Amino acid sequence: MSIPGPEPRPDGGEAAIARAGGLHLYQLRLHEEYGPVVRFQLPGAGTAVSIADPVLLEATVQLDERPGPLFSFLDPLFEAGNLQVLPADEHAPWRRLLLGVLAGRPSHERHFGRFTALATELADRWAALPAGGPVALQRDLTGLSLRMICGYALGGDLKDPEDVVEAFGTVLGDRLERLYRLPSDRTPEERAERTARALARLRATVDRVIAAHGPAGDGERDGRAGHGDRSDLIGALVAAGTPPARIRDTVLATMLAAHHTTGVAVSWALHLLAGHPGATARVTGELDRVLGDRAAPDYADLHRLRYLDMVLRESLRRCPPGPYGARLATRPLTVGGYRLPAGTVVFYPFWAVHLNPAHWPEPERFRPERFSPEESAGRPRLAWIPFGFGSRACEGASLAMVEAGLLLAVLLKRFRFRPEPGHRVVPVERFVLWAADDIRMLVTPRDGDRETGERP
Ligand code: HEM
Repeated sequence: MSIPGPEPRPDGGEAAIARAGGLHLYQLRLHEEYGPVVRFQLPGAGTAVSIADPVLLEATVQLDERPGPLFSFLDPLFEAGNLQVLPADEHAPWRRLLLGVLAGRPSHERHFGRFTALATELADRWAALPAGGPVALQRDLTGLSLRMICGYALGGDLKDPEDVVEAFGTVLGDRLERLYRLPSDRTPEERAERTARALARLRATVDRVIAAHGPAGDGERDGRAGHGDRSDLIGALVAAGTPPARIRDTVLATMLAAHHTTGVAVSWALHLLAGHPGATARVTGELDRVLGDRAAPDYADLHRLRYLDMVLRESLRRCPPGPYGARLATRPLTVGGYRLPAGTVVFYPFWAVHLNPAHWPEPERFRPERFSPEESAGRPRLAWIPFGFGSRACEGASLAMVEAGLLLAVLLKRFRFRPEPGHRVVPVERFVLWAADDIRMLVTPRDGDRETGERP
């Protein structure tokens, strides 16, 4: 039985993806038209098989390699080999080390006060804007997420987070524009020079962060990560005997993986809430009830903010910051009655899985109640996979949920968010699901809401 899908084209599938508006939208189109298992041309990877059914995905859980060519656009970021596509035997110890640093709940709790101070600093800046802004959510929240990961795992702060975010954007944007052959108003030489400058800036930042960390073994300093602290990534890498180039690569990859995803996750959540006053009233009502007059939650409060957690989960379903993933079948597989030979590129269409109507009725609708215990019961475990799954799933998932929950709590307790009139939010794929011209919103203090009885 052959797998359904569009006829192969001589251009390798580029035009079809461009016509759909990008790979994030093309995957939706493919599964609407051809069903849960689809064969299609994927630029950079030849032919791929995409699976949008969470039960069928179970057959692929053991796959533990990514297809190299698909992620080669990340090659220039790395000195000692692209970390996205490390061979499985090198990946396993690297993953264990990262999980030890990123996934420890005691470390999350210890850094919570610092996270709160950073979030409050941004909120104070927004509160001082005349007439409520507008603020550019993605820009400000990715910058903040970058500062959070630097404070958490890399032992310090950055003076210029927005510039570093921009440098990452330049390097990735250039690579993806070339991969998808997107139009550019710069000559190839101008683009190459600009990308080289941005990459040099990123490398200099990594060198500064490592130099500021100092030699391993100097204990915890000023409340920052130091040796002996389980959240000290650089210390853990040094202690494991990691070569310097791989340490620099891991620092860069951590800065990248942590900031653009968490920052856009919170931006999408605020955007979605702005269009759903009922859900906003319910989440702010919960914040008022749980926090009272306090401006921010403490770590234990996060578990009491049940509806806020549902809002975050629904936002990650509706707008997953990482819209797709991929694996390489290193042995033959059977999926939904189809034989996939060894060597098949398996495409994970995270967004199409999240919008699969068989498991998510009215999938386009933003409805946090889907994540109530009653509605969640019996749902296949891979129906919600914003952090991927299996042995290459996101090592930062639990940290990201803490950071994003805290940010939403601080911002929603304090502000009302309204879209800037006339501003269009257009999702594009830039490795993450990003809004092309940012998400611009007007922010006004909520104090008035409660006095005027808008509180539910
Ligand atoms: C809301 C925020 C986040 C989202 C939605 C997200 C999503 C993802 C996704 C979809 C993947 C690919 C998984 C797969 O292929 O199965 C991934 C990988 C990864 N993420 Fe995250 N992520 C987030 C935050 C973070 C944070 C805070 C960190 C902290 C450093 C992080 C570190 C990583 C790393 C290191 C990988 C590579 C995994 C590997 O190859 O072993 N992420 N993330």
